[in-house]
Parts: sequence; C-alpha cells; structure tokens
Amino acid sequence: MFKIFDDKTKILRTKCKEVPLPYTKEDKQTLKEMAEYLKLSQDEEYASEHNIQAGVGLAAPQIGLDKRMLAIYLKDGDSTYKFGLINPKVLRTSVKKAYLRGGEGCLSVKQAHQGLVMRYYKIVVEAFDVFEDKDITITAYGYLAICLQHELDHLDGVLYYDHIKPKDPFFIESGAIEV
Ligand code: NI
Repeated sequence: MFKIFDDKTKILRTKCKEVPLPYTKEDKQTLKEMAEYLKLSQDEEYASEHNIQAGVGLAAPQIGLDKRMLAIYLKDGDSTYKFGLINPKVLRTSVKKAYLRGGEGCLSVKQAHQGLVMRYYKIVVEAFDVFEDKDITITAYGYLAICLQHELDHLDGVLYYDHIKPKDPFFIESGAIEV
C-alpha cells in the first residue's frame, strides 16, 4: 500500500524530473502498483475496508517520487482505460473546453475546494506506456481528457484548485461542455 502525500508536502509543488529510458524494473513495477491501487480504490468494499478514497488517476509525486510518471485507471461508459505513462507530453489541445459538473477531487487534497476547473475538451498526449511497452499517442475526449490534464498538472506541481477563480469559482467559459 502506498503512502499518499498531501498538498502540504513539497513534492506536490515540485516540477518533476524526466525519467531516463529505457525505464527500470522498479519504475515499471511502481506504475503497475499505482494502476492496481486505483482499480482497488474503485472497489467499494475494498475502499471502505482500507479507508481509502476512490481515484481514477495517480501521479508519481503523490507517492513521493520526483518522476514524470502517472497511472490512469478509469471506466467511462463501456470503456476501461488503463495507462502507465512515462514522460507524457501534450501534442495538441482543443479550443473547446470541458469541466466536471461537480468539480474535481484529488487523492492528495483533503480539504474541499468548491468551484469548477475548465480543461480542454480534447487532448492528444504522447508517452511511453509500460503496459503496452512502447510509445503511444492517446487522443482523449471528455472525462479521460480531464483526468489526463489533472495528472499532467501534478508532474508540474500544479493542483486542480489552482485553476479555480477565487472571485468567481463557478465561472464557466463560453461553449464549455459539462462532463
Ligand atoms: Ni490529483
């Protein structure tokens, strides 16, 4: 089981370092465990038994590692997305924005921060994926796109509530899609 660091920890505000490739066995193992943790966190029985919060994404700094790595385990409709990414880079973003209706949450943020986070509706990300064992390009829309942007932010020391406008927390950009 991981120790999840909270947003008062310096590592959560650190711009993380690129991971040298080829990756080490430890890095791959870490990403596998991160994805497994997320999967288990979505099992209600397991989560309540272990007193953990459900999550769909986890970035390496959240478990105390200064590495550009993140895991996603997300079910959206009939699709399940599982990624273990090293050195992800954003190739393209849409003009159109999207946001989660109830606002975002984070395993590292214990206090509630009311407000909406405007994200890109579509994002194209290139990364090395340890599950595919090769470079991949992800074209993500909606919920998956939002989740990726949230985790990518962690690699640069940015937290979701940094994006909430203090004076107008429920501001919605024109044309933004509710997810
Ligand atoms: Ni987070």
